Amino acid sequence: MPWCSASPSPTSLSRFVLLAILVLLCCSFFAVAQNTPVDAEGHQWWQHAVFYEIYPRSFADSNNDGIGDLNGISSKMSYLHNLGVDAIWISPCYPSPQVDFGYDVSDYENIDPMYGTLADFDGMVAEGRKQNVKIILDFVPNHTSDQHPWFLDSKSSRTSAHRDWYIWRDGKGPGKPPNNWISIFGGSAWTLDPTTNQYFYHFFYKQQPDLNWRNPAVEKTMLDTTRWWYQRGVSGFRLDAVDTLFEDPELRDNPVLPGTNAQGDPNMENQYNDKLPQVHEELQKLRKVADDYNAVLIGETWTSNIAELDRYYGQGSHELQLPMDFMFTMVNQLSPPEFRRQIAAVDAAHGWPVFVISNHDIQRSYNRYGDGKNNDAIAKLMGAFYLTLRGTPIMYYGEEIGMENNDPIRREDVKDPIGRTGWPKEKGRDGERTPMQWNTAPNAGFSDATPWLPVPPTYMTHNVASESQDANSVLNLYKKVLALRHTNQALLEGSYVALNKNDPNVMSYLRSYKGEAVLVALNMSSTPRKVRFDLSPLGFGSASAPSSLKVLIASQAASAQSNEVSLEPFGLLIAEVH
Ligand code: GLC
Ligand code: CA
Repeated sequence: MPWCSASPSPTSLSRFVLLAILVLLCCSFFAVAQNTPVDAEGHQWWQHAVFYEIYPRSFADSNNDGIGDLNGISSKMSYLHNLGVDAIWISPCYPSPQVDFGYDVSDYENIDPMYGTLADFDGMVAEGRKQNVKIILDFVPNHTSDQHPWFLDSKSSRTSAHRDWYIWRDGKGPGKPPNNWISIFGGSAWTLDPTTNQYFYHFFYKQQPDLNWRNPAVEKTMLDTTRWWYQRGVSGFRLDAVDTLFEDPELRDNPVLPGTNAQGDPNMENQYNDKLPQVHEELQKLRKVADDYNAVLIGETWTSNIAELDRYYGQGSHELQLPMDFMFTMVNQLSPPEFRRQIAAVDAAHGWPVFVISNHDIQRSYNRYGDGKNNDAIAKLMGAFYLTLRGTPIMYYGEEIGMENNDPIRREDVKDPIGRTGWPKEKGRDGERTPMQWNTAPNAGFSDATPWLPVPPTYMTHNVASESQDANSVLNLYKKVLALRHTNQALLEGSYVALNKNDPNVMSYLRSYKGEAVLVALNMSSTPRKVRFDLSPLGFGSASAPSSLKVLIASQAASAQSNEVSLEPFGLLIAEVH
């Protein structure tokens, strides 16, 4: 056999050397490519991926107990792939007493039996690999459940091994907590535990005691946990509530502001228990581990300006790749000037933009932007909008079918505790967490059993099966836009340039890349609009021979002629520029 001849001829020897060099080169290229840029623009996988948040209780129920589960998610993997989703972020599915529906974790390295087993998890990862859908878990580093063995040990005595894993302090006097800090879910952030007669700190419910991240054992254990999941096939984490990882060691009182919040507590500036500088040191450590696995970190970061957002990217981009920018979700009206301001700001920030319009903590976008009459048109408009911006979009399950909030009507029906304590001002978050609407069968095809939260009556029209049959549905608009953004170079790589910046009604912009461009025009008003675009300053066409537009995706009555676009109320148009 020629390849094992004992004395190779000079030519076969040099061929062999050449081949060896080639193999070595290839190997080192792939090794580098695994952790570094995946395309010519230096963009990595998470910059082109479309993320989709799944609230596991509500996505698909495989064993008909009324609660969604991991096998349910696996069974919908091809749906997700066909929709154009590249990665799913699953809200916490670890063992939990479910006081905060999973955000109170009692074991970080397991799956709650209600959602399945670790084997089901592995099956879901495998199914995801088949369908090219990566799995992102929700990591809850700020606090555990009060039923976590660490906390049970911690509270058992002042000298227990885990005592310093949480934040314990003496009160200021009888009945007086250590300071004036308020839990975001209502009442003092301190609860007295009678066993040791000290207070423990909790930024959220008292069943969610804050971990003490100043303790190196806590830090090490939590970093190891992320590693454990990466090795199990997870491609990243959404980091819950990172703003509140650290507290002032002196526990100084926060400044009190005028007025009270929905829970009846005084308004407060969380100067000493929110966004402390140490947060960033931890994020850098979490990121280092993530980088070993080419994983992404998405942060729940409630920033109110770009300087704050920039801090989360980190100098040299060594913190969060994708800090969630909720400033966009706070534009609660169809306001082109406001959206332009937000996008320009994020675009100028020192990291890759993230766009989100709904999640499990805020009212669904369908209701927030809808005017009650044109909600479907507006849902499509919003989809065409944030899915064509420069950045990574994070969708929320059901958004693609125009799912609406189904808020509880009676206090006794509320499941989310803050809805009970805050009723009626705060109705809680049940409304945005209802079961996914798959078809017109009872319970919207989510489960044969009564679901843990009721589906809204509109599931008869807004569901995956019916909308798949309707070319003009919200679902089909999402599918078309997602398909386009996966293949169109201008949408994948292009810059964002706002057009007609003074137009108060039509939001429009150009995404352009190496001479290719896509124009997006969105009528955010309730009257028909005609707009003209002069793209010659941007290098497309000239004043005498304007560029022309070739429609790629448009609402029913929208059209483009030469460089002019006509849009019906809330109409949308996405066109290639020639
Ligand atoms: C985050 C979650 C929210 C949860 C809270 C406490 O804000 O998104 O659902 O209640 O953290 O973990
Ligand atoms: Ca189930």
